[in-house]
Amino acid sequence: MSDRVYIFDTTLRDGEQSPGATMNLEEKVSLARQLEALGVDIIEAGFPAASQGDYEAVRAIAGAVQHVQVAALCRALEKDIDRGWEAIKGAAHPRIHTFLATSEIHMVHKLRKSREEVLAMAEAAVRHAASLTPNVEFSAEDASRSDWEFLAKVCEVVIRAGATTVNIPDTVGYAQPFEFGELIAYLLKTVPNAKDAVFSVHCHNDLGLAVANSLSAIRAGARQAEVTLCGIGERAGNASLEELVMALRTRHELYKVESGVKTEQLYPSCRRLAQIIGQPIPPYKAIVGPNAFAHESGIHQDGVLKNPLTYEIMTPESVGRKGTDMVIGKHSGSHAIKAKLAELGYPLDEQQLAVVFAAVKELADKKERVFDEDVEALVLEKVYRRRD
Ligand code: KIV
Ligand code: ZN
Repeated sequence: MSDRVYIFDTTLRDGEQSPGATMNLEEKVSLARQLEALGVDIIEAGFPAASQGDYEAVRAIAGAVQHVQVAALCRALEKDIDRGWEAIKGAAHPRIHTFLATSEIHMVHKLRKSREEVLAMAEAAVRHAASLTPNVEFSAEDASRSDWEFLAKVCEVVIRAGATTVNIPDTVGYAQPFEFGELIAYLLKTVPNAKDAVFSVHCHNDLGLAVANSLSAIRAGARQAEVTLCGIGERAGNASLEELVMALRTRHELYKVESGVKTEQLYPSCRRLAQIIGQPIPPYKAIVGPNAFAHESGIHQDGVLKNPLTYEIMTPESVGRKGTDMVIGKHSGSHAIKAKLAELGYPLDEQQLAVVFAAVKELADKKERVFDEDVEALVLEKVYRRRD
């Protein structure tokens, strides 16, 4: 089994489907360029049949990037696939991504089609897409709630029809990590032509398990993960690109796979997205949130100053951040305040330090966060006896 896991970014398609995340054409092109710099393997640029605007944005992205594959999402309908192909055919590496639901609940209530009809539709759609390009992905929408035997049959049929990637979505975020891993292992074992395609996963975060489910699937043999920057996406979002990539890297001994992502570009990419959609990165967001490398408690600050490995499992620089953030607050200890004073250019003696430390603690009881300017003002007042 290959040790390369492909990163399929769908920020511009599934991500854009999240409320408040709409982007205009220029913003999409600019983000696509950033995603190329980040080193993702595939950019899902949009859903060209959905609107004229989406079609034009996908076409513009297809012409704006060189090294990365550009995918267009299409329902399993010839007219959607033709429209999608029109939009991406100018790309250096185009991919048609077609999808159809395979769960009983979707087939009965949404599609109003029998299993046989769904099988025939999936096969025809993939065959048509494969007549346009050799790079075809098929997604079995709501796969995690589908009958496993039927799902295996669908996979077999679409691979025979020309799908080179088969995506297994947890569309409604229902799966649990152990069971999703078992599903992927089952498909890889049961589908007779499984080795002719890359098995992919696409997890939603309704139970907060999107990254965990994706990791479990990769451990079971999936070799493509569909993700978004900051985990934006429908409802509770999609699996977060930065969390998945850093979990694979930080615990490489467990997964033994490599992604092509340049991790130093993670923070700049998420910042760029946040600026574009006008939604700040939440404080507790793993990897890229403002607090992800901030330490306030005295014990933690002392540990990190002695050796960052005590409380940091990755370096801030490895994800493109400037460095550890020592937050001065009421939990800070004298080591952190001494380090902060040295950083600000005030190497005080022990007696001066004790005076400033006491003053900082007093201020921190009244103020949620003590900024560098506050510390500096206290040094000037208490040590140098100056007041503004
Ligand atoms: O969640 C989902 O099932 C999807 C498919 C279209 C891949 O977004
Ligand atoms: Zn989705």
